[in-house]
Amino acid sequence: MISLRTTERYIKPAIFVACCVPLLWLALRIFEVGSLRLGPNPVEDIQDALGIWGLRALCATLAMTPLSWAIGPLPIRFRRMFGLFAFTYASLHVMNYLLLDQTLAIDAIVEDIVERPFITIGALGFVAMIPLAVTSTNGWRRQLGRNWNRLHRLAYLAAIAGCWHFYWQVKKDLTEPLIYCTILAALLGARIVQNRRRAAPVPPTGQPRSPKRGHSAP
Ligand code: HEM
Repeated sequence: MISLRTTERYIKPAIFVACCVPLLWLALRIFEVGSLRLGPNPVEDIQDALGIWGLRALCATLAMTPLSWAIGPLPIRFRRMFGLFAFTYASLHVMNYLLLDQTLAIDAIVEDIVERPFITIGALGFVAMIPLAVTSTNGWRRQLGRNWNRLHRLAYLAAIAGCWHFYWQVKKDLTEPLIYCTILAALLGARIVQNRRRAAPVPPTGQPRSPKRGHSAP
């Protein structure tokens, strides 16, 4: 059993550093450190790197609850951090789009959101992530009580929208977006199975049902 002290002292900082690595790597490519470079379309490279890491962090966030059913409550301690990294990467992704890709041309941005479905669904995913980030603190959690869990189901919407956005954005090879869609389907499917189990009647033998989760969505 890993102690709370080890978790707070070593595991959390290690995960924090690991989550910063893609950003650092991107910065090294942007500033052309050593032989590191972006490709011929640097704005698109930045957009893609931030988008994919946003989606990965979002999947990691959603993986913590099913993982905790398998190995115990420890992964729940990392859920908020993954969620906040997902929001950070997604925010930088959106900022890159607004500032570098569209150079804040409001008309073009509005036209994009209205006329390009993959942008519309991406924007929906990003908007869904905002209340999650805002209410991620212990204070908000206490204040919202049960509604916090309800609100944080928006993480499912954000992840579905993120995968959909990725799927629609890809022009030729759909393998990568389909991998993320499969991972997300498995993560959401695990929740459905668990909820069904918990809703099942108590066995007549008096044996205990599968344990109740001490933590809920996402
Ligand atoms: C207002 C919201 C958003 C906008 C305007 C936006 C915009 C874009 C654009 C323009 C691209 C394509 C770049 C290219 O041409 O290669 C892209 C790709 C992508 N976006 Fe977004 N996005 C948004 C939200 C999100 C969110 C919330 C996520 C997930 C958390 C996400 C994940 C991705 C991924 C995974 C890719 C593909 C990366 C790749 O090809 O490797 N986006 N996005």
